Amino acid sequence: MMIVEATAPGKAILFGEHSVVYRGPAIVLAIDKRARVLTRERDDDRLFFDAMDLGFSGYFEGDAYQPVTGEAWRGKRLEAFKECARKTLGHIGVEKGLDMTVRSELPIAAGLGSSAALCVATVASVGALFEADLPLEDISTLAYEGEKVVHGTPSGVDNNISTYGGILRYEKDIGFERFELEYEIPFIIGNTRRKRSTKRLVDRVRRLRDREPELVEGIIDSIVSISESGLEALKESDLPRLGDLMNVNHGLLSALGVSISKLDMMVHASRGAGAYGAKLTGAGGGGCMMAFASEPKLEDVYRAIHRCRGDPHLVKVSYEGVKTRRLE
Ligand code: MEV
Repeated sequence: MMIVEATAPGKAILFGEHSVVYRGPAIVLAIDKRARVLTRERDDDRLFFDAMDLGFSGYFEGDAYQPVTGEAWRGKRLEAFKECARKTLGHIGVEKGLDMTVRSELPIAAGLGSSAALCVATVASVGALFEADLPLEDISTLAYEGEKVVHGTPSGVDNNISTYGGILRYEKDIGFERFELEYEIPFIIGNTRRKRSTKRLVDRVRRLRDREPELVEGIIDSIVSISESGLEALKESDLPRLGDLMNVNHGLLSALGVSISKLDMMVHASRGAGAYGAKLTGAGGGGCMMAFASEPKLEDVYRAIHRCRGDPHLVKVSYEGVKTRRLE
């Protein structure tokens, strides 16, 4: 029986998280850590998921989740992928049950886009299994349906970067431009290992904006202009400027209330160790920060993050978006 594997990259937002929910661009990099989904047809109409690297598996019969391994509440984590699989089957006009194995090198709920990468890989694997030849645009749009289940009404940045890879200037309701750089960006991601919910953090910023509209609008305007300048600096490989802009962007995110002391510590330790710049990446509230340093300083920055009890990873930009292949 045919098995299809799809993989999709995670992401790190360089500039523009939170502001992108309202207006202006996010500048986002696909990273060389990927989510993977293996899919094959079943004889019945169940959607079975093996998420055994997270310690559970189970299936949906209609909308009811039946655990096979692990507790029933864990099925909540699979709702987004169920939605993606169903929407994709509907889109290509197929009524079948599926066996899906979901695996990820990306930590979950850490701001690196693991849910979007798994949604994108789910859609692509189901499409490829039935030889539907889905255009990338459809893959991203169908994956967004799963993202809505996890995050409410996300900006769409995560599903787009996981689909297309590379570097995107993404703007909600407008679209994206994709870039490739001729130089390698040396950066490190530091994980606080504190899970958090993107939806809650986006809601927190929204509530602050409701209470203090002028103040928050001003901060959003500043982040929008940093994101535009950041893209210029990136294209011109002006690393010191890029670092300054990251530092200011972090300050503004702190002002919006989405940093935590561990993120601040890791950010400051990275700068102290010689990084050009460092900031939280993604929704904040825990999750990850990123630091950007010259090659000789990378080791020091890595150690500085480790000393703060963060989990550092040397990361590269991945120019490879979603990929599928048949295994048998
Ligand atoms: C999450 O990766 C980025 C946020 O801007 C939310 C969104 O864009 O939907 C915090």
